[in-house]
Amino acid sequence: MEDLKQQLALNGGPKTMKKEFPWPIFDDKDIDAIVEVAESGAWGNPDCAGLVEQFERNFASYCGSKYAVSCVNGSVALRLALIACGVKPGDEVIVPPYTFIATASIVLESNCVPVFVDIEPETYNMDPVEVEKAITDKTRVILPVHFAGQSCNMDALQEIASKHKLRIIEDAAHAHGGEYKGKKLGSIGDAGCFSFQSSKNLTSGEGGIIVTDDEELYDMMNSLRNVGRVKGGQWYEHHNLGCNYRLTQLQAALLTTQLERLEEQTQKRNENGLYLNALLEKIDGIRPLTRGHGETLHTYHIYIFKYDQSKFNNLSKREFAAMLAAEGVPSFMGYPEPLYKQPLFREKNFMCYAIPEAVDYTNVCCPETERACYVDAVWIMQNTMLGTKEDMDLIAEAILKIQRAACA
Ligand SMILES: Cc1ncc(COP(=O)(O)O)c(C=O)c1O
Repeated sequence: MEDLKQQLALNGGPKTMKKEFPWPIFDDKDIDAIVEVAESGAWGNPDCAGLVEQFERNFASYCGSKYAVSCVNGSVALRLALIACGVKPGDEVIVPPYTFIATASIVLESNCVPVFVDIEPETYNMDPVEVEKAITDKTRVILPVHFAGQSCNMDALQEIASKHKLRIIEDAAHAHGGEYKGKKLGSIGDAGCFSFQSSKNLTSGEGGIIVTDDEELYDMMNSLRNVGRVKGGQWYEHHNLGCNYRLTQLQAALLTTQLERLEEQTQKRNENGLYLNALLEKIDGIRPLTRGHGETLHTYHIYIFKYDQSKFNNLSKREFAAMLAAEGVPSFMGYPEPLYKQPLFREKNFMCYAIPEAVDYTNVCCPETERACYVDAVWIMQNTMLGTKEDMDLIAEAILKIQRAACA
């Protein structure tokens, strides 16, 4: 019994998983592409042309969208899309609370009010039933996040949006290459926003992009990311309140070579995710999230499973996650609390932004999100999901090792 506990890597025993999972993945082709731009001297992007424009076309076409506008990061991508939708100060935007800060903070930065609605317990995505309940005469936009790379219930959200004449901006920061009923995530709503930050499934260190089929949105986002210039206008002619949010040619060069790998990598993560689901479903006290509503391809930016501490002799999720990480599985307990508990919201540290006085986040409570944060969710990072079937077997083995030691 003591022996099983001593065997845990956290207590000095041998690690179950000895392999490292590199990220990002690159080779000479990526390096050559960067060197070529570096040597050309044309590093910047004053005209939104060259490799940047070419990459935008490639990415739009990969997503099955008409247009794409690249920019400095995924947060700015979301904000440009929101502003281009024509929101006014005080308008409400429905967001989930189980997400990165930017999904909600960019709403405040656009002088709008994020309204948090709870997630579905089985997918951790925005619950359409809760969305419908949260709609008021101020609601303008629904901002679903395809969390971890699993598609939201887009049919239900689109039905609600069209019934209430709302726009949908997809936060697809986790979802490059993922699919819902055969359509690429990000290409389904009015606009879809992606991040190329260093942990993301497609990365250039930092960066972002928005895809859309709507020409008016495209023109406005294009202007906003390029200091308010407009198509056909002069260099010193500024029509809209934009900024320099342009991607560099160096980033575009890297994204171009990285994009060539994306489909194969996505298929691999999806395949491994399905395999790991089958393994983990057999472990008492471990339940992978349910595959979503008509999703055809999950990007597994994060592989998430639910942990039931009662089957692990009441070992807390925090302790379990630390043990799993020590066993060599790149894993972690995920968000420690719902987004609405951040001081930004609770203390209303909104600075110069014009947020109505009456807004109050201290009473917000989304029970499923709280459960995911405090009790259930354990995350495994996307680079692990590029491993082999044997690596997936080792993840299951590491969990069983912890369970045997906890229950000994
Ligand atoms: C769900 C989600 N939305 C938006 C973003 C913002 O992207 P960026 O970091 O590129 O600004 C992130 C980044 O982690 C994210 O996870």
